[in-house]
Amino acid sequence: MSLSSNAPPSSAADAAPLHPIYAELVTQLAADLSAVTSEPALRTVHARYLGKDGEIRKRLAEALRAAPGPEKRTIGQAGNTALSRGEELFAARLNALHDAARGADLARSVDVTLPGRRTRLGGLHLLTQVRRELESIFAEIGFVVASGPQVESEFYNFEALAMPDDHPARDMQDTFYLQSPPLPGSTGGRLVLRTHTSPVQIRTMLAQPPPVRIIAPGKVYRKDDDPTHSPMFNQIEGLVVDDGVSFADLKGTLLYFARRFFGPSVDIRLRPSFFPFTEPSAEVDVTCVFCQQKGCRLCKGTGYIEILGCGMVDTAVFAHVDAERQRRGLPPAYDPENVSGFAFGMGIDRMAMLRYGVNDLRLLFAGDARFTQMFR
Ligand code: DAH
Repeated sequence: MSLSSNAPPSSAADAAPLHPIYAELVTQLAADLSAVTSEPALRTVHARYLGKDGEIRKRLAEALRAAPGPEKRTIGQAGNTALSRGEELFAARLNALHDAARGADLARSVDVTLPGRRTRLGGLHLLTQVRRELESIFAEIGFVVASGPQVESEFYNFEALAMPDDHPARDMQDTFYLQSPPLPGSTGGRLVLRTHTSPVQIRTMLAQPPPVRIIAPGKVYRKDDDPTHSPMFNQIEGLVVDDGVSFADLKGTLLYFARRFFGPSVDIRLRPSFFPFTEPSAEVDVTCVFCQQKGCRLCKGTGYIEILGCGMVDTAVFAHVDAERQRRGLPPAYDPENVSGFAFGMGIDRMAMLRYGVNDLRLLFAGDARFTQMFR
């Protein structure tokens, strides 16, 4: 809509010529009115010409004073005509501005039929979901969640777990060391990104006497990088220490876990193995969840899939713990004559992959929304 269609009404535009003493003022008023584009500015112009002390009334008063008696009436009437012509011009311009504003408002294109923009909900990452599920499965049978730092000293990560500097088992895990010196007050040794969650076993036993029944989930680091290994991955550690804990307790706990996590029809198999911090040690397989033991690519035709390592806590570990407790002025509490325990460790990522058929570990860490959104 254009302003020209709102030109002043013809009565004002085509009206008879004004008295010469007002004509110029009213022409100026018309010009000033059309120069402004906002209502406040328009009202300012109105006040300047048509107000109580405005130009037209001033001119009227001067002319009346100067005019001889008989002319006063004509000049007064002409003044009123000029005032009402001015008001008409003002009203017309005000209308035009209002129309223009309304026109601009209507011209704005808002499609009120468009659907609203939905706020998208976030979700927990698959690994968080699986970690929480693992935690709650173990919580059901009395385990509490413990944690430790990802930057560990060699003492916790290796030594206290019966892996001294020259132990061949370190080769598999000897990995990212930090250049900074040992932390003040720490038990010493270099600092390393923990290679497993097992150091939380040591931290827990130093912090409390038996009974111990913890699981410790968290990030661990190794010098690995391929479709099934990442330099950072997640483990969950388990430790139980009490009076008279047996291998049967270990086996029963793991069977319970496997059936809760993979389904009631699975079975487990323990194969003799070796870990420096457990004796005896075992690797645990679960019956293949993909082929029901018929043999497939994922179980490599064996009908079993490895899920974790475990064993009875080695007495050497208890000895390291009690020696350190003593060094710290704590009473010894882990005499193998009185207590025994079992431990286990598994990969959270591996559990997630098995459970959901994820074939590349790196998908879990890539942060690709197409993948993460599949598990909400
Ligand atoms: N810490 C071992 C690893 O990272 C896994 C493990 C094996 C943990 C046996 C245990 C255990 O607690 O008893 O390879």
